[in-house]
Amino acid sequence: MRRKVTKAIFPVAGMGTRFLPATKSVPKEIMTLVDRPLVQYAIDEARAAGIKEFIFVTSRGKGALEDYFDHAPFLEQELRKKGKVELLEALKATNMESGAIAYIRQHRALGLGHAVWCARRLIANEPFAVILPDDVIAAEKPCLQQMVEAYQETGGNMVAAMEVPPEKASSYGVLDVAEDMGSVVSVKGMVEKPAINEAPSNLAVIGRYILSPSVLQNLNKIKSGAGGEVQLTDAIAQDIGTDNTVYGYRFRGQRFDCGSKAGFLQATVAFALARDDLREDLLRYLQEMVQVDKAAE
Ligand code: UTP
Repeated sequence: MRRKVTKAIFPVAGMGTRFLPATKSVPKEIMTLVDRPLVQYAIDEARAAGIKEFIFVTSRGKGALEDYFDHAPFLEQELRKKGKVELLEALKATNMESGAIAYIRQHRALGLGHAVWCARRLIANEPFAVILPDDVIAAEKPCLQQMVEAYQETGGNMVAAMEVPPEKASSYGVLDVAEDMGSVVSVKGMVEKPAINEAPSNLAVIGRYILSPSVLQNLNKIKSGAGGEVQLTDAIAQDIGTDNTVYGYRFRGQRFDCGSKAGFLQATVAFALARDDLREDLLRYLQEMVQVDKAAE
């Protein structure tokens, strides 16, 4: 039996420049899809996968994130007085057991690999998950749970992968596939942001990982890679061919890149349409908008 994955790192120390000026004072991860911040989707997914310890790698100006997971006694008291049971229930999902959540500062934004490395002492010597909250995945079975189940069979390192069109591959880490076994592929190479036409496949890595502690040791040695940042992909790739080799996992679900404006807007519409209380009105509105657009042509 493999060791259970009970710890997850949430790297949230990036500057979120694509959402400036909003992210000047609001952390990107607190921006909301309908009525839940991105980070809530990430936490819910982690919980469903059996994660018990939540490690946030933060930076200056991310205080709102810490407050989000704190109790709000005054607010709770007011809601209770007014008999707002449903809202109280919604707030419960934001509560964390004392000691289950930790915050570590990344003092300089040196890249995703560096952010993960900052949490090394809290991980020690066990496998761990990494979740990027700006990748939001709508799925019947939450993506990380699918991965944890597959990982029980494979061990090693596992990265979530999805097919992307060739012209988009240069925005991602891309897998060089050794063997395609369906949902799981074994990997013989990984390239971070390959040049156009040089991607080894159309399988791109997105923001869910189950990693072996050996990746943290690899990060110890890495200075910087593509874009002058310490790339997590490079550290994972160093494990290829070792006892902790690397697998890609084709998850079932729809991923939204909520780190980009277009992806965030698409996710907002998709999640709103999935809600019984919003669907009908929104659909009507969107249909009207499309008519207006056509009329303008
Ligand atoms: P992004 O590449 O999306 O960068 O990081 P960003 O700073 O969040 O956003 P833009 O590009 O400026 O708009 C991917 C993930 O890695 C984390 C981010 O917080 C995000 O979850 N990250 C990135 C760090 O924690 N530290 C870093 O130094 C870089």
